[in-house]
Amino acid sequence: MKTLSISGATGHSEIFVGESFEHLSDHLPADRAIAITDENVGRFYGDLFPVREVITIGQGETIKTLETVAGIYDQLIEREADRSVFMVGIGGGIVCDIAGFVASTYLRGVRFGYVPTTLLAQVDASVGGKTGVNFKGYKNMVGVFNQPEFVICDPRMLETLPERELACGFAEVVKHAAIADADYFEFLERESPRAFSLDAAVMERVVYDSIAIKAGVVNRDEREKGERRKLNFGHTFGHAVEKTEGRRHGEAVSIGMMMAARLSQNLNMLDKKSVNRLADLLASFQLPLQGQSNKTQVMDAIARDKKRDGDALHFVLLEALGQAVVKEIPINELQMMAGSEK
Ligand SMILES: NC(=O)c1ccc[n+]([C@@H]2O[C@H](COP(=O)([O-])OP(=O)(O)OC[C@H]3O[C@@H](n4cnc5c(N)ncnc54)[C@H](O)[C@@H]3O)[C@@H](O)[C@H]2O)c1
Ligand SMILES: [Zn+2]
Repeated sequence: MKTLSISGATGHSEIFVGESFEHLSDHLPADRAIAITDENVGRFYGDLFPVREVITIGQGETIKTLETVAGIYDQLIEREADRSVFMVGIGGGIVCDIAGFVASTYLRGVRFGYVPTTLLAQVDASVGGKTGVNFKGYKNMVGVFNQPEFVICDPRMLETLPERELACGFAEVVKHAAIADADYFEFLERESPRAFSLDAAVMERVVYDSIAIKAGVVNRDEREKGERRKLNFGHTFGHAVEKTEGRRHGEAVSIGMMMAARLSQNLNMLDKKSVNRLADLLASFQLPLQGQSNKTQVMDAIARDKKRDGDALHFVLLEALGQAVVKEIPINELQMMAGSEK
């Protein structure tokens, strides 16, 4: 087992990589713990949870709403949960985002931790302190920054994950390597077959290195004013593709990273060989490299998104594999640049 920590204004988080989730009770500080999980995770692992009280929610992005949050408050009140309760989210990114939000707001905040059960949740959603839900179709519109006290990443829990969900997690893994660590990128190129078949030793390094990159960035820029934006590599185009094509997030991000890499090449910042290496690595995890929507649809979706949060577009480009830069690009210029693909 390896450990990492995140420390900042929004709390302190201990992350345990390679810990067994059956040891969860060793990490629970309070007398009374209540778990939040979803129906799939409950079906696979519910009998093994070392927590007696469990609240089970449905699954899928459509349940990431304030209604689901209200349903959990109801159950907490019914169970007479007071401020001494410790909440633990056991599930994918959706469960973690909801559990973190509920714990941060119920009775003005109770203590909480996560057991992320998808690769995406282990390397991304459970790390960094963002919690929240969607509102009126807008993703993550309502939420708070707050760190879970602990995160337990048990690689064995990934074995029941459908391959497509696993691939989506690898999109964020490749992203971490591409923005910050050339050696790690090479390691993934060498070991992608073993990683994809969940070889224990390879996966321990994959999860640890990915979290270390994200935790490093978050420790330096907790509230996303500068460097943290690098974690959005592939996400400007990716979110647009996710909306226009209704694709899974990780698949859309894979397409988005390819678009951002080609744009970097068009701007003479990145060489063609690196673009091809990125494509090959994503393809080795069976991730798509190209979407179906045309440029106008993608650019329209980006413009609609921008109207909502108002400020300039901070676009993440690559200077090399392992090195990202953030550039402020006005939308109309991005449209022109994206239109001049080589
Ligand atoms: N807070 C953050 O910083 C952050 C970062 C990235 C993503 N997110 C959020 O995370 C969410 C996506 O997370 P996700 O990809 O984990 O999706 P998810 O939580 O929907 O999980 C994917 C599917 O896998 C199932 N599942 C989970 N664990 C399983 C297991 N061990 N075995 C079998 N099935 C399992 C789930 O029931 C679900 O059907 C999005 O809502 C996104 O906004 C948040
Ligand atoms: Zn993402």
